[in-house]
Amino acid sequence: MRQSSLVVVSNRLPVDDSVAPDGACEWRRSPGGLVTALHPLLQHVPATWVGWAGGTGPAPALSDIDGVRMHTVPLSHDDVRNHYEGFANSTLWPLFHDAVEQPVYHRRWWEAYQRVNQRFADAAAQAAEPGATVWIQDYHLQLVPGLLRAQRPDLRIGFFLHVPFPPPELFMQLPRRAELLNGMLGADLVGFQRAQAAHNFAQLAAKVLNLPATDHRIAVQGREVQIGAFPVSIDMTEMEALARRPDVVARARQLRHDLGDPQHVILSVDRMDYTKGIEQRLKAYSELIADGHVKVRDTVMVQVAIPSRERVEQYQVLRDRVEREVGRINGEFGRVGEPAIHYLTQHFDRAELAALYRVADIMAVTPLRDGMNLVAKEYVAARVDDSGILVLSEFAGAAAEFSQAYQVNPHDLDGLKLTLTQALRASPSDSTNRMRGMRAHLRKHDIRAWARAYLTELDETGTLAARLTAT
Ligand code: ADP
Ligand code: F6P
Repeated sequence: MRQSSLVVVSNRLPVDDSVAPDGACEWRRSPGGLVTALHPLLQHVPATWVGWAGGTGPAPALSDIDGVRMHTVPLSHDDVRNHYEGFANSTLWPLFHDAVEQPVYHRRWWEAYQRVNQRFADAAAQAAEPGATVWIQDYHLQLVPGLLRAQRPDLRIGFFLHVPFPPPELFMQLPRRAELLNGMLGADLVGFQRAQAAHNFAQLAAKVLNLPATDHRIAVQGREVQIGAFPVSIDMTEMEALARRPDVVARARQLRHDLGDPQHVILSVDRMDYTKGIEQRLKAYSELIADGHVKVRDTVMVQVAIPSRERVEQYQVLRDRVEREVGRINGEFGRVGEPAIHYLTQHFDRAELAALYRVADIMAVTPLRDGMNLVAKEYVAARVDDSGILVLSEFAGAAAEFSQAYQVNPHDLDGLKLTLTQALRASPSDSTNRMRGMRAHLRKHDIRAWARAYLTELDETGTLAARLTAT
């Protein structure tokens, strides 16, 4: 087994197996914010990425991607059911997102979570050369820092949580709260999207584990664990270059034409997830049509909602409800060849996403709670002519950075309708000023700035940060 000086560990690898139209198995980039953030960073850096390739049974052997070694961790049917769909996505995910759906607690899920975390820790230990840096990602793997430190005290260990970290009132519900906190504290640096999350974590370390804690460091058995906020970002240069490509510009023109050359295109791009506020947004839009504020011929809504975690019941219920609502809205307000909502559940490549962002006069990103929301950042990056309006939930991490967006509380239906109406009527000069402000911010705070900030704190020598952000 070849070893690396940098090992990234995440539940999901940047590739996902899927079935091509001819029935063959094909690999494609997996959707989701974590991969969007890390994929551009790791290109052409000699590193190993440890993760799951999306299926069940023996781990497939994957060849290197852009020079990065893929180390696959196998998950059995039972692991997927109880670790991924169970503890990770039916307990932690809803709990960490304000319990917008009821978190479910089962003891057998906890056993699977421990078992799978141990497997990831073993894989990371194998892949790391002596003294290497191991960077563990997200809520699926919160025990890995502690488990890894127990086997490999020589490593420098970082942990980053891509999702929100909840306030103590919510976290205290967790039957295994002390173990989870201790697991994360196995890291040298625990990073969050927002300062509030670091504050919540420090409060919990003091309350549950009785540790001396500030919002910047926690003392654990003679060690100091650093904590802090590092808002994740995207590769702005890559998205800008895509958006400027002549074929993407032509594709955007074609898409607009196919949509009937309307005055306004409103776009949303989400994983089909109950945290994304899709139902609330559809309701607001349909009421705007019913009230006569929006005419279907002039304004077209495109909702991209790629299915996610499809065997988890809450996700199945959501998809049924969304599809029923889209059908109702189109049945009531559409005409032949003129649907009120264009609803797409397909996977799109990056160029097609860039073309969609170019077409969107208004981008509606209205999650009920979101760690960051990189779709909002991708949209801003794609608006190379400084046009376009971002309607953004106050409850997305991105809201802390994009003060110039039209911010909205997605739970407030009248507020959402009003904000969409204001966006539809906004003056081009005001929109341009807002977009310029957001683009200037994003340029300074892109994915390389994120990695530099995090890795400089993790590895004081600065060597790693320099290697990862050189390109
Ligand atoms: P999350 O991490 O919860 O999925 P983000 O908005 O942070 O939410 O990230 C979603 C990522 O998935 C973005 O990079 C987006 O471009 C990508 N994505 C979303 N929908 C699709 C789709 N239909 N096809 C391909 N990529 C998608
Ligand atoms: O960013 C949040 C996140 O949960 C990632 O950890 C994950 O890879 C992504 O969303 C997509 O979800 P999943 O891996 O369950 O398809």
